Amino acid sequence: MNWIIRAVTLLILSGPAVAQDAAMGDMAQVKTIEVHRGLTVEGRACVDCHKHFQPGILADWKDSRHAHAGVSCIDCHAVPADSPMAVTHAELGEEIVTVSSLVSPAVCGRCHVKAKAQFDASGHFRSYHQIIPKDNLHALTQVHEGQSHPEFGGAPNETGCMQCHGTKIKLNGDNRPTPDTWPNNGMGNIYPDGATGNCTACHSRHKFSIAEARKPNACASCHLGPDHPNIEIYTNSKHGHIYNTDSDDWNWDTAPDAWEPGDYRAPTCATCHMSGIGDLEVTHNVTERLYWNLWAKESKVRGSDDVLSPILGDGPAGREKMKKVCNNCHSTLHTDGFFTQGDKAVNLYNEAYYRPATAMLEELREKDLLKANPWTDEFQITYYYLWHHQGRRARQGAMMGAADYAHWHGFFELQQDLYKLQQIHKARLESGAIE
Ligand code: HEC
Ligand code: HEC
Ligand code: HEC
Ligand code: HEC
Ligand code: HEC
Ligand code: HEC
Ligand code: HEC
Ligand code: HEC
Repeated sequence: MNWIIRAVTLLILSGPAVAQDAAMGDMAQVKTIEVHRGLTVEGRACVDCHKHFQPGILADWKDSRHAHAGVSCIDCHAVPADSPMAVTHAELGEEIVTVSSLVSPAVCGRCHVKAKAQFDASGHFRSYHQIIPKDNLHALTQVHEGQSHPEFGGAPNETGCMQCHGTKIKLNGDNRPTPDTWPNNGMGNIYPDGATGNCTACHSRHKFSIAEARKPNACASCHLGPDHPNIEIYTNSKHGHIYNTDSDDWNWDTAPDAWEPGDYRAPTCATCHMSGIGDLEVTHNVTERLYWNLWAKESKVRGSDDVLSPILGDGPAGREKMKKVCNNCHSTLHTDGFFTQGDKAVNLYNEAYYRPATAMLEELREKDLLKANPWTDEFQITYYYLWHHQGRRARQGAMMGAADYAHWHGFFELQQDLYKLQQIHKARLESGAIE
């Protein structure tokens, strides 16, 4: 009786996804039906003992859907004895259980097939992969920020980039992760089992809650600051205004694909970039609804299947999907007008800032009027700020309805950068020397 009620409730909560996914063999759904099975003897042993050592982990897990569905420590942490990360767990008696504190997306993907496949096709997947071949970025963190210090030079990367982008996790002789690569919350970790990503980046362990991931704060730990101030942009937007004044009693727990306007009054990051809404399904591919690339030096329309390409995605299809999101709450007149305004700002940045600045840079390079160390060269530093900081703020502010970022932190500073570049450029050409 009891399990029937729970199983039925879960089926209702899981909504229409159940019928669709059953045919695709999504094990999460199979598990849903087995929700009454409870924990195995081995599974219970982990829980019973660890509650004395890490009550914090236990409390989060007990509160999770996993606990209710009988997914416990052993399902995620046990690894085969021949795994490169296998650690023989001490004090477990007769039976030798090998575990790892590392849980890669391959483990989650055993049950959440679709989420992993979508993540693997997204811009989030490449968060670390794309940094590997970029020598100038390694030079920035090691040589300049790290001052090539033989012992401590890795700190800027380990406490900075790696915590957002991830890294290739290395193992010690005892099969445990090394402290220069772990712990980290980076999005693009490459695990010793070959899997890439980090499913805890948005729904943190051990609660793994969708309610958490739907709130803008879940993206804010990485999407902030001078070069991609997305949380600040959101706060500046009318949507953020409503979220910040009115969201305490929104329904954050509604099942995927059933979470619709009415549960909330204004969209969060997840609503626009990931959630099911209207006839759009939930996606773990955050690239799917994008038209432009707004982080590159020059914004181009997306159109590539290569996950490492800056223009990953399908721009026109992405725009259609994003407009569908808006049209749940706005008229097509409002939505189309908004994108006309936003695209104008992106085109202005490309034509009036990126191109003239780059033409000057190329001319100075040709005439040997750039310093070898870009971080001591006023022209190259300003050029970097133009595209990487103010240029991104102007473009992203315009495309997400944030006037302060489009203007004061954006185009206002862009014109200052451009005038400065023009002055340095002129002086160097006239004198034939670097000031
Ligand atoms: C008898 C108590 C006990 C049982 C049973 C137990 N653990 Fe542990 N486990 C510990 C203790 C103690 C540690 C060390 C904690 C520390 O270093 O802070 C530990 C460490 C771990 C670690 C970290 C491993 C590492 O490399 O440091 C993992 C993962 C883990 N346990 C998972 C499990 C799983 C999965 C089970 C069930 C198969 C389990 N434990 C059963 C007590 C237990
Ligand atoms: C749904 C999968 C899942 C379940 C169930 C799960 N864990 Fe974890 N656990 C993770 C993930 C993911 C990480 C992060 C690992 C990483 O950084 O690669 C983690 C990390 C850990 C760590 C190391 C990090 C830290 O904060 O010390 C310990 C210890 C741990 N889990 C213990 C447990 C215990 C005990 C249970 C059972 C109550 C449990 N886990 C259940 C997925 C799970
Ligand atoms: C052994 C299978 C299994 C594994 C491994 C597993 N899960 Fe789950 N997960 C489930 C089941 C079953 C549910 C409940 C589904 C339901 O209620 O419809 C679930 C639910 C979830 C939910 C939805 C929670 C909510 O608030 O509704 C999230 C998010 C999630 N899992 C993430 C993860 C992540 C991240 C990992 C890897 C660290 C993972 N899962 C590993 C089986 C698994
Ligand atoms: C752990 C850090 C982290 C969190 C949390 C995070 N992101 Fe990201 N995000 C990144 C990184 C790093 C990139 C850049 C990936 C790359 O290398 O191209 C990125 C890129 C993106 C992109 C651009 C993708 C592309 O193809 O260019 C979007 C859109 C995005 N994130 C949305 C979100 C949303 C929405 C959330 C919250 C639901 C979120 N992110 C949470 C780190 C994070
Ligand atoms: C606070 C988190 C954070 C830190 C720290 C961080 N990044 Fe990023 N990075 C991001 C996010 C988020 C994006 C995505 C921006 C967007 O889509 O507009 C990004 C984008 C990028 C991109 C462009 C994406 C691509 O596919 O080429 C590169 C390159 C990059 N970061 C490298 C680095 C390096 C190197 C460091 C350290 C020197 C670093 N980042 C530090 C969060 C961070
Ligand atoms: C960028 C943030 C982010 C990352 C990274 C992320 N998720 Fe999610 N996830 C979400 C959001 C947001 C939702 C809720 C979507 C909605 O509104 O219904 C969600 C929902 C889910 C659900 C329940 C809905 C469903 O489709 O079944 C599961 C299961 C899940 N995630 C698993 C994972 C797994 C596995 C990974 C790693 C491969 C992962 N997530 C990585 C943000 C994220
Ligand atoms: C009202 C819907 C909406 C909300 C809310 C929203 N975004 Fe966006 N986001 C967009 C649109 C539209 C674009 C530009 C898409 C295009 O045309 O290329 C965009 C672009 C981005 C980009 C730039 C990708 C690139 O190419 O560099 C990132 C990163 C991003 N959003 C992250 C976030 C985060 C994080 C939040 C929450 C703090 C958020 N967004 C909130 C609609 C939204
Ligand atoms: C869940 C409903 C919802 C969704 C989805 C949504 N919005 Fe909104 N939006 C609102 C509400 C409510 C307001 C506040 C209206 C007011 O100012 O009284 C608003 C305000 C705005 C404003 C400020 C100007 C104005 O009319 O107040 C813009 C611009 C905007 N939205 C654009 C978008 C775009 C573009 C999208 C899709 C990428 C989008 N919205 C998606 C609900 C939504």
